[in-house]
Amino acid sequence: MARTRCDRTPVWAQLHAAYAATGRAFDLRDAFAQDSKRFERFSQSAPCVFADLSKNRIDAPTEALLLELARQSGVEEHRDAMFAGEKINHTEGREVWHVLLRTPPSSSNDGSHRATELAKVHETLNAMLAYAESVRADATITDVVNIGIGGSDLGPQMAVLALDAFANSGKRVHFVSNVDGHELAATLKKLKVESTLFLIASKTFTTIETMTNAHSAKAWFAAQGGSDTAHHFAALTTNVAAANAFGITTTFGFWDWVGGRYSMWSAIGLPLAIAIGATGFREFLAGAHAMDEHFRTAPLEQNLPVRLGLLDLWYRNFHGFTSRSIAPYHSALRRLAAYLQQLEMESNGKRVDGEGATLPFGTSPVLWGESGTNGQHAYFQMLHQGTDVVPLEFVAVKKARHDLAGHQPLLLANVLAQAQALMVGKRADAGPPQGGAVPLGGSEPHAVGERGGIELSGGHKHFPGNRPSTFLLLDDLTPASLGALIALQEHRVFVSGSLWGINSFDQWGVELGKVLAKDIEARLANGDATGLDGSTAGLLARLRD
Ligand code: F6P
Repeated sequence: MARTRCDRTPVWAQLHAAYAATGRAFDLRDAFAQDSKRFERFSQSAPCVFADLSKNRIDAPTEALLLELARQSGVEEHRDAMFAGEKINHTEGREVWHVLLRTPPSSSNDGSHRATELAKVHETLNAMLAYAESVRADATITDVVNIGIGGSDLGPQMAVLALDAFANSGKRVHFVSNVDGHELAATLKKLKVESTLFLIASKTFTTIETMTNAHSAKAWFAAQGGSDTAHHFAALTTNVAAANAFGITTTFGFWDWVGGRYSMWSAIGLPLAIAIGATGFREFLAGAHAMDEHFRTAPLEQNLPVRLGLLDLWYRNFHGFTSRSIAPYHSALRRLAAYLQQLEMESNGKRVDGEGATLPFGTSPVLWGESGTNGQHAYFQMLHQGTDVVPLEFVAVKKARHDLAGHQPLLLANVLAQAQALMVGKRADAGPPQGGAVPLGGSEPHAVGERGGIELSGGHKHFPGNRPSTFLLLDDLTPASLGALIALQEHRVFVSGSLWGINSFDQWGVELGKVLAKDIEARLANGDATGLDGSTAGLLARLRD
């Protein structure tokens, strides 16, 4: 499969020329003034998601060049290789096949590797969902505790919170991830041994945080007189042998071709399946599958993950924006930013390409955010008036699932107003905001001059505007729409990673800290500071005092 790194394509130089000619000085207000159809041109529907990209610093000729970049880089071939189960995670020699986890079963098995793996997927899914239903029906279990970290925590935790309106099991679901014992201790305080089910979630079943918490949970269980481990512990892992050795006999497996941060569609999704039931979980998978099909088949011009991934590259490598903020205007999506941090930054936080060569351009942006309207009262000041431009991604949900009067219109008014304010800005002397009236022209200076700086910058009450945002709109937050939204995010990360020529599916960068923590753990016990740098040695001594 031929891939060409973005900067080695013929169109790369044209993109640089386009940036110099129109991109650098691009002003959204001028763009809307000059094109009455801009909203239609830069918005589109995808499964469960309507996306308005029109408030981004991009014009049609630039998007055409970016689409050409996708073609010349071989994004489509790379995507097809992923769907076909080629070992595109070449540094670990693995397929990248999370899309198979949400592929409907096939009525025929042609004996191919894909058919065999798909059959295994559905066999495990059926067993896992039957188990979820049995837990839901088991009145003796009131609390389910998921012990896992990273991909074995963030996805299910985010989704259980997001789909709280669909949770009908009557079980409390807890998540313990941190090796900091405060977290497990605080959770154990709320539990009774006879009514608790522990799910030990770990792809490898070796992760130190998870194993430490699992051992402590097991010790607590025994100390409280618990004995029926089969009823109170289950493991979600690719390493069933290690789970058995730990003493867990109820296990649900998955495969090494499921990356940790792409694993909530597998047995790792069990907490969600317990919360919303088998039918809800299947709807979640179906929503993701619909987005997979969109990504796989839609023409690039109308392919939402492709358009978002291209925009990510445009902002990172041409405008030089180093971060992206996510603002979900739905309180149930309050862990979305944490989830997306792992997805984007563990996938694309790489400084070398697939061949190990140093990249001459930036890759993963810093991903961060908070749900609206909370963020407005914390860091939106910086987004409106700070020195850095941060592209914002709003996620709004039309339908509310509560009946409190007045809240939803206020929430939706706020999300629209923020996107509007970021773009239109306001001159300090323009008087009180006039709603639809746009008080700023596009050519105002951005820099504060040496003399007369106050005049040039417009002063404290000046909003420069022209701050870009994307607006993702769901009709309703359901298992299906959440599945589609998350699959959309997975695929946009795939697209930018593919353009950058990196392997988005390994995570070697987490290894060094793990090795050093083992060494320092021993030194904390024996006080040996030999060979340590001065700072580490000094802190070690203070911690041992
Ligand atoms: O942080 C590194 C990592 O390997 C993640 O990729 C993964 O999601 C997490 O640790 C947990 O791994 P495991 O599921 O094997 O315990």
